[in-house]
Formats: sequence, C-alpha cells, structure tokens
Amino acid sequence: MKLTTTLLLVMFDMALARPSPHQTTGKHYDCKSFDIPITVADIPTLALPFLPVADQYQATNVLNTLTARTQSGAAPKVVNVSGIYNIATQYCFPLDQPLSSTLQILTHGIGFNASYWDFYLLSNQGDTQYSYISTVTAAGYSTLSYNRLGISGSTLANPDTEVQSPVELSILVQLTQLAREGKLFDQQPKPSKIIHVGHSYGSHLTNALVAKEPSLSDGVILTGYSYQGSYGSSFLINSNLLLASVANSTRFPPSQYPNGYVTWPSQWSNQYAFFAYPQFDPAVLAQAEATKEPFTIAEFLSFSILSLDAPGFKGPVFYVNAEKDQIGCGFNCTGLVGPGTDAYNAFNGTSDIESVIIAGAGHGLNLHYSARETYGKINDWVKRHGF
Ligand SMILES: *[C@@H]1O[C@H](CO)[C@@H](O)[C@H](O)[C@H]1NC(C)=O
Ligand SMILES: *[C@@H]1O[C@H](CO)[C@@H](O)[C@H](O)[C@H]1NC(C)=O
Ligand SMILES: *[C@@H]1O[C@H](CO)[C@@H](O)[C@H](O)[C@H]1NC(C)=O
Ligand SMILES: *[C@@H]1O[C@H](CO)[C@@H](O)[C@H](O)[C@H]1NC(C)=O
Ligand SMILES: *[C@@H]1O[C@H](CO)[C@@H](O)[C@H](O)[C@H]1NC(C)=O
Repeated sequence: MKLTTTLLLVMFDMALARPSPHQTTGKHYDCKSFDIPITVADIPTLALPFLPVADQYQATNVLNTLTARTQSGAAPKVVNVSGIYNIATQYCFPLDQPLSSTLQILTHGIGFNASYWDFYLLSNQGDTQYSYISTVTAAGYSTLSYNRLGISGSTLANPDTEVQSPVELSILVQLTQLAREGKLFDQQPKPSKIIHVGHSYGSHLTNALVAKEPSLSDGVILTGYSYQGSYGSSFLINSNLLLASVANSTRFPPSQYPNGYVTWPSQWSNQYAFFAYPQFDPAVLAQAEATKEPFTIAEFLSFSILSLDAPGFKGPVFYVNAEKDQIGCGFNCTGLVGPGTDAYNAFNGTSDIESVIIAGAGHGLNLHYSARETYGKINDWVKRHGF
C-alpha cells in the first residue's frame, strides 16, 4: 500500500484534530493529533486492599504496608469497571519516503506521556537523536502513539478505580482494533501489519495484549522490560508515593489530580529509576523531570491481575534491554532475559525470540546517549522480519 502525503493530509483535515504537540515544520515527518473516545465495559479491575488515601501521611503508610517484610497473601479481589475515556493520540508518517504498510503502535511507560517516543531537548530542538519517531519514519513507517489513561490530554480518570492496568489494556486492544479496521480517523489507511512497541509499563501492557488477543499483533518489541516484576518495590520506595498535588500543586492541582495520583520527589529519584550515569545529558534528565507525568498506585498494583503468558502468540518477539535498568532488572539486566528465562518462556508459541542489551544505558532507553544505537537495533530487527 502506498499513499501520497497529500492524500494523508486531506484525510487528517477530516479527522477530529487537535493542534500538534510540537512544531514539525522542516522535519521529514508530520504528526497529527486527535482525540478518540474509548468505551470500556465490564472490565475486572483490582479492588484496592486499602482505603483511598486521604493525605500524604496515609500514602506513606500505604508504602510501608506494601513494602513490609510480611504480606497478607490474600488473593486480590476484583471489581468490574465501565467508562468512556478520551484518549489523546498522535499519528505520525513520513513526508519524503514511500510508506510502509506496517503500522507501529507505541505505548509509553510510567512517568512520561507519548512524547517519550518523540523527545526533543527544548534547548536544542534540531537534535533528532532522542526521537524514536524521527528514526522510524525515516525508514518509511507510520506510528500511532497515545497518552495512556490518567496522562494529561487523555482523561484524568479516578486514580483508584479507573486508572488501572486492565482498563489500559482494554484501551490498547481497542485502539489496535480501530487501527486494523482503518477507523482511527476518516479514511485512515488500513495497515497490512501492525507491530507493537512498548517501553517499561507500556511493554507490560504490550505483553498482556498478545497474551489476551494474540491475533491483534504481528510482532512485539519490548523495551525496558524483563517480564519479571521483582524490582518494583525499589521503584515504589524511591518514589515515596509522593502525592502529585503535594509534589507540585501548581502543576498538579488537586482538582485534577486527586490523591491516588503520585510521583517521585526530585530529579535525583528520577535519575535513580530511569537513568544510568554517565550515559545521559543532564539537560535531558532536567527536562524529563520538568515534564514528568504522575502515575497511580492502583495502576501499579493492578499489574498483578494481568495475564502475561502468551502461548497463543505466533509472531516474533524482540526484547531490548538497558544494561543498567533499575526498574526492569535491579540495575543489571545481564542474564535476566534469554533462552530458558521466564521472559522467553512466556512466549512458548513462537520460536522467534531475540534479545539485545544496550551497554551502559538505564531504564529510560530513549533518553540516553545510546538512543540511536537502540533505534538502529530495532530498525534492523523490523526490516529483517519483513515488516
Ligand atoms: C507531553 O508533555 C509535554 C510537557 O508537558 C508537552 O509539551 C507535550 O505536548 C506532551 N505530549 C503529548 C503527546 O501530550
Ligand atoms: C464482570 O464482567 C465480566 C465480563 O468482563 C462478566 O462476565 C462478569 O459477570 C461481571 N461481574 C459482575 C459482578 O458484574
Ligand atoms: C511546579 O510547577 C511549576 C509549573 O510547571 C514550575 O514552574 C515550578 O518550578 C514547579 N515547582 C517545583 C518545586 O518543582
Ligand atoms: C506453554 O505455556 C503454557 C502456559 O502459558 C502451557 O500451558 C503450555 O503447556 C506450554 N507449552 C509448551 C509446549 O511448553
Ligand atoms: C551482572 O550480572 C551478571 C550475571 O549475573 C554478572 O555476571 C555480572 O558480573 C553482573 N554485573 C555487575 C556489574 O555486577
């Protein structure tokens, strides 16, 4: 399938468009932003094992309980949730390349919005080295990225009952179905193949997607993700479960960010969790901190009720890990992802699993000096698999 850029632009004029998040003039790709309402019906979610927190004292106490030596061991209780949520999406496409008919659907992790995939330093906006979308559109691919539920631009839903992993999974399932049917916007070109790329929590959701609906994806790329969740408590402790509105009531007013929305205290906590010294530009860390997005305690805890075993998935799987990934690997990914590990066994319906480790990088792979190397490995894998 080949489409001219003009045709695409005409189609976008007919879509429900928002202003583009940043100026793309002069680039080899363009992005159009639009909002999609998604209806979620009867999704089993986690009934939180504690009352909604009323203040920071209670949030800190919840952290004590969650990371205590002894845990209750009680089976999680589930409760169904329904709702209609607005999801802010960006569709990016090359301007000066023949279009590939493969669409890449990109799901960002905790602490970021969709701009994780299209990161530019405000102080050096001509520098494309951190933009995944710049790299893959140069290779002819179109991308669909979106702000997950609970991220500004998309609905800031109830942090305790709605911003939960099963709801976010349902949103990814439905976005993928719309993309496959060409219904994201008026006259959207139907892709012949769709591959899913995740980062961190976005990889977790991508893994869960092909566990639940294996036929919806033709291939998955899991970055900053080792399948096992053993290192989550370090992340939680490092965050202090700091209430977003306590962290910065100007940026995260309590009227928009009720108490279940949390973040971490400072750029040093951000570095601990997402960066590996000295393989990053301090200006990138500062910008990541200045633009960080809160997460919810419930989305973190409800990881546990998503099934990750994907024996029905027959497509190829590519793990891309940072050598010094704190959240995914306890600051050492070597030996955690490979044949015989849980990360591989989860995909026992396919024989095509590869993994690579990016030397020196931390969890936020796209924000390290090695970003270009990371994107090169991904592009190479994508091409080798005929996408
Ligand atoms: C992500 O957040 C930054 C900082 O608030 C903002 O400039 C950008 O437009 C956001 N991106 C999206 C896709 O919403
Ligand atoms: C919850 O939703 C599921 C479908 O997702 C349905 O099978 C189940 O009966 C519902 N449970 C309740 C208590 O409504
Ligand atoms: C709080 O957010 C505002 C607006 O984004 C910002 O100007 C200010 O520096 C932040 N304050 C702190 C303490 O981070
Ligand atoms: C693959 O894993 C599933 C569990 O996810 C298991 O039931 C099945 O027996 C495994 N198949 C093989 C061939 O090992
Ligand atoms: C990382 O883990 C591997 C495998 O356990 C080990 O061989 C290596 O020494 C570790 N690296 C560091 C820096 O500790």
